[in-house]
This record gives sequence, structure tokens and C-alpha cells, in this order.
Amino acid sequence: MADHISIGLMGLGVIGAGVATAVREQAHTLAQRIGAPVRIDRALVRDVRSRRSAVAEGLSLTADADDILKNPNIPLVIEVMGGEYPAYDHISAAIAAGKHVVTANKEVMAKHGPELLRAAADKGVMLRFEASVGGGIPIIGPLLDDLAANDISAVNAIINGTTNYMLTRMATDGLDYATVLREAQELGYAEPDPAADVDGVDAAFKLAILASLAFRTVVRDTDVFREGISRLAPEDFWYAEELGYVIKLLATARQTDGRVLARVHPAFLPISHPLAKVDGVYNAVELEGDLVDWAMFQGPGAGARPTASAILADVVAIGRAIVGGVRPAQPPLFDEALTIETVDNLETKYYIRLRASDRPGVMAQVTQVLGDLDVSLASVIQKEVDESGKAAEIVITTHVAREADVQQALKQLSTLDSVDEVSNLIRVEERIA
Ligand SMILES: NC(=O)c1ccc[n+]([C@@H]2O[C@H](COP(=O)([O-])OP(=O)(O)OC[C@H]3O[C@@H](n4cnc5c(N)ncnc54)[C@H](OP(=O)(O)O)[C@@H]3O)[C@@H](O)[C@H]2O)c1
Repeated sequence: MADHISIGLMGLGVIGAGVATAVREQAHTLAQRIGAPVRIDRALVRDVRSRRSAVAEGLSLTADADDILKNPNIPLVIEVMGGEYPAYDHISAAIAAGKHVVTANKEVMAKHGPELLRAAADKGVMLRFEASVGGGIPIIGPLLDDLAANDISAVNAIINGTTNYMLTRMATDGLDYATVLREAQELGYAEPDPAADVDGVDAAFKLAILASLAFRTVVRDTDVFREGISRLAPEDFWYAEELGYVIKLLATARQTDGRVLARVHPAFLPISHPLAKVDGVYNAVELEGDLVDWAMFQGPGAGARPTASAILADVVAIGRAIVGGVRPAQPPLFDEALTIETVDNLETKYYIRLRASDRPGVMAQVTQVLGDLDVSLASVIQKEVDESGKAAEIVITTHVAREADVQQALKQLSTLDSVDEVSNLIRVEERIA
């Protein structure tokens, strides 16, 4: 058995501390499964003097990345700092120095993954990133290995725990957006600046990674159509329930005829949809493949221990290769020449909520605008919303229509004298894998 494998840990926050704890707790298991003990020899932080939990005791802290990057005795780096820079620079430098890398960084992998994987392969080292999507859920491994014989046609996912927690609270307790956001922040589920979660940025990074692996083409985060959850109101949840749906922040990518459409936005899912039952901070990823047909992976999408589980699985894979002297497998190829489709060409059903004057002829006007653009109605609910009986809320669900036509119809509806406000538009995903 080799003496030990030295690890350079970059970042000692929520996840870094979780990894350091798990390396201690699982020392025996890791040593057995790898064939050599692993040890964290250096931990990079911003400020070595700041107060830290007991987990930092016994770790050799540094604020100088070169103490890890230029240390020839460290063959393996775990990057859990987060953010694009300097994390990207450190990962690149570690690869260039011939070190294996494990990262939990979705932003770096979404923006630079294909290039970093190529650099790692050229250098004969491994770059693994299971924790970058879905926390403790195994999903990168299945896409790279276990489902490698499939042509994957779709990825449908709930991959942001913060928003899923918020939407679950809004649905089950009738709370409004501002209240659940405050609650999520108090519980530590949402950041003081919640934009990355509530605007769908985090989910778009993760979807870009999943879609790139699934379709073997480069899908950037900027290729993902993105809409956040801040427009959702309690009324949308009432109507969803009345119509037999739940509202989720859906991350979905589909490949059709050489075109990939990737999008993150709130969606109505039928209550029978497998993702409809994924509540709270849980995440799930559903895949459609030609051989497997359908598979779903579900579990804790964040948190120190589940994420450490994914990171240490990557450490085990790399540790085994180091101990066995095995050359790393070739990286995934992103060689499919697929085109990125815009959301304008999406064809799906829609939910539209309007506020309008409660007088004869209004519904006819609304129907006319929609009909002129080939948007046909599947159902209409009309409710009086004020005591005077002068205003009504109109809720429409459509048959399958084209996004560009629906958006055009909404523009026209908002110019009608009888329409006070187009309150919300939510895409309805009927397709069940
Ligand atoms: N939190 C989760 O549940 C979760 C789940 C899956 C994946 N991830 C990913 O894991 C990564 C880490 O997340 P986290 O929640 O652990 O973040 P965090 O609590 O903010 O910790 C970041 C750590 O990195 C260090 N750091 C940041 N910038 C640095 C710099 N420029 N130089 C040196 N050290 C620096 C910080 O040092 P100081 O301690 O000195 O500030 C801190 O120890 C992110 O990529 C995140 O997306 C997180």
C-alpha cells in the first residue's frame, strides 16, 4: 500500500469543511477503497487568521495558492472555493502542473468545462466534477459512463434547492414570494443576494453542464434561456392546483433534429409528472435515452455531507488511478455539431393570467387576439376580483402554440383598453418521459 495520497484543498467554507470532516470520518473506508490513505496536506483560504470551526484544527492553512499548486508532493487538488475566478485559474494551473482535480464548481465547469477537460486529457490527468450538479446525486457519472451507450434526447431537472424549497412553501402554505424568500434567507437556504438562485442563473450553469454531457455538444450557460421565479404570485399556485398542476423551476434541454433547446423557467407540471413530487430542497434529474427509455436520479441537491459524498467518490476514482498507475480515460467528446435553438421556436402549452374589465365583449376581444396568432384556448377561468364587480381575473390555458406567437399575443393583449395587466405567463410541460 502506498504511504498516502496528499490532497490540496482549495476552499474551507461549507463544502471544504464538509470534505475535511468526511476525509477524517471515512478515513478507513477511503483507504480501503483506494488502496492508500488520503490526507489533506494544505487548505487554501482567503484569510488564515479568521476564526474557524474545529474542523480547521490540524489542517495546514495557507492564503497562497502556490503552496498547493507548486507543491510536487500534492498530486490531487479539490477546488471548493466557488466563483469563476480565481478558481478557474487555479484549476488550469493545477492541470498544467500535472495534478488531478476534483471540483464542485458549476460556474467554472459551465463556462470552461470542455476546454479544461481537454487540457486535463492532454496532460494525462483527471478532472472530475460530480458535485457540480445536484450535490450528492450521482448524475455526471451516469451521463459519462453508465448511460454511455444511449443517445440522450432530453434532460428534465429540478436542480436548484433554494427555489424548490421556496416554491414548495408557496404551494403548500399559500405564502407570497417576498415572505418565502425572507424565510429561505433566515434558514440559510438563500444567500443575502439571492439573484443567482431566484433568477435561475445557478440552474442555468448546471443545465449547461448536463446538456453538454448528454448531447455531446458544447452548451454554454449563455445558450440557456432563463427566467426566474420572482413573478410568481399566490394566485398562480391556486390556479395551478385547480387545473391539476404544480409549479416548479424546471431546467430542461431537448435535442430535436440536430437542434438543442435548453431553458430554465417556472413551469406547470401535471401532478402525475415524476418531477412534480420532488419537494423542498431536494433535486432530481430525469433523462430520456433511446436504450434506457427513462431514468430519474433524485436526492439532496446541496449541503456539506451530500456534496462531500460526491467529491469523495471522485477522490476515490482518482486515488485508484494513482495507486494502480492507470492512465485516465479519454474525456467526453463534445463533437456533435448541434445548433442552439432559441426559445422563440418552442412549442408547448401555456398558462396566461390577465386582469381585465369585467364587461361584455372582453373575452371575445382576448380570444380574437390569441386566435389571430394561432394560439387556441384549452380552458378559461374567469373570476371577479373586486367588490364593485368591475375587474375580473382571466386565466387561460392554451393548446400547443409557438412561443413567438404567444409573446406577440401578450404584447397585443397588453395594449387593449379592456386589459389592465398581463399578470403572468407560465409554460406548461405536459410531456411525460
Ligand atoms: N453549499 C452547497 O451546498 C454546495 C453544493 C454543491 C456545490 N457547491 C459548490 O461548492 C463550492 C464551494 O461552496 P461553499 O458553499 O463551500 O462556499 P463558501 O462557504 O463560500 O466557501 C468558500 C471557501 O473558499 C475560500 N475562498 C474563496 N475565494 C477565495 C480566494 N480568492 N482565495 C482563497 N480562498 C478563497 C473561502 O475562504 P475564507 O474561508 O477565508 O473566506 C472559503 O473557505 C462552490 O463552487 C459551490 O457552487 C456548494
